Amino acid sequence: MTSNGPTPDRIMQLINGYWATGIVGAAASHSVFTHLECGADTAEDLAARAGISERGAQTVLDGLVSLGLVEVRAGRYANAADAAAFLVDGKPASLSSFARLKLGHAGMADLPDVVRKGGPLSDVVVEVKDNPHWKGVVTAIAAQSVPVAAIAAETLGLAGAGEISILDVGGGSGIYSAIWLRLNPAARSTQLDWRPINAIARELLADQGVADRFDCIDGDFHTTDFGTARYDVAVYSHIAHQEGPEDNVAIFAKLRGALKPGGTLVVNDYVVDDDRSGPPFALTFASEMLLKSKQGGTWRRADYHDWLTKAGFEDVSFQRTPSPATLIFAR
Ligand SMILES: C[S@@+](CC[C@H](N)C(=O)[O-])C[C@H]1O[C@@H](n2cnc3c(N)ncnc32)[C@H](O)[C@@H]1O
Repeated sequence: MTSNGPTPDRIMQLINGYWATGIVGAAASHSVFTHLECGADTAEDLAARAGISERGAQTVLDGLVSLGLVEVRAGRYANAADAAAFLVDGKPASLSSFARLKLGHAGMADLPDVVRKGGPLSDVVVEVKDNPHWKGVVTAIAAQSVPVAAIAAETLGLAGAGEISILDVGGGSGIYSAIWLRLNPAARSTQLDWRPINAIARELLADQGVADRFDCIDGDFHTTDFGTARYDVAVYSHIAHQEGPEDNVAIFAKLRGALKPGGTLVVNDYVVDDDRSGPPFALTFASEMLLKSKQGGTWRRADYHDWLTKAGFEDVSFQRTPSPATLIFAR
């Protein structure tokens, strides 16, 4: 029987979407992309290099081919271009530790109840003082900010900006400070985050040889004073999605006050089009915030424009990046 009507293929793939998380996470756990990049091109060779079973190697390779991350020609395997760029260990923008982190993602079975309730069922994951949740997350997500921080630096001309001072609110791993202080040897940076997270950031900044120009403020960014007219550039990266509208406006107003006249706020987040038709990653990520935060979500361009204007910024511009994130510059 032939039919030109719809088929269940796409729906079968979506229902089994957890296979993608599992296959990419398992491959990253065994450095499969790194071994392929170093020349392994058969299941047998990969198994020997990675110290895994040949049956397991063949199964993971089959899964990666189905996901489009590995290509097979005449029985020889190779990374697809995006896997080579973003899943090989040791590259600054490598997402392999993020892929391993996501293997342990819990809570999907709660989602129907979370959707009914409109928020997390019990332990709120993001709104907890000195939150241990972030310890496992911040270094794994740092790679996502590497290309974005470089683009923002280029747009703002940070490398040649001289003695600037930077404030990074919820800076996490310290990745923005690390990249920007290396680019500009006269810049100084201050990160506001929970104490245990700032300790992680100090290690990264020390590894990068720029710890002498990096300070930390330990505390809650809702209640901590940001100071007045102190900073040339401020960063708010991957924070707006965990906050509700009122808190975002309040924090943007504190950031406006902390910036010198003419200073720039850089917001980085998964920003939704005004008609909520895309981009796909930003639309999907809202479910993560429904599961894990009381008021978070992925916000529209119009929301950011409105909130930043209410907070006293006069010039707001958006820059899509070659990642799921959008940069917002406000002056
Ligand atoms: C998603 S991470 C973003 C890290 C970093 N900005 C980036 O883009 O890679 C969120 C960060 O905000 C911090 N954070 C969340 N709520 C906070 C609060 N109320 N006060 C201070 N820091 C907070 C977390 O500890 C974590 O480092």
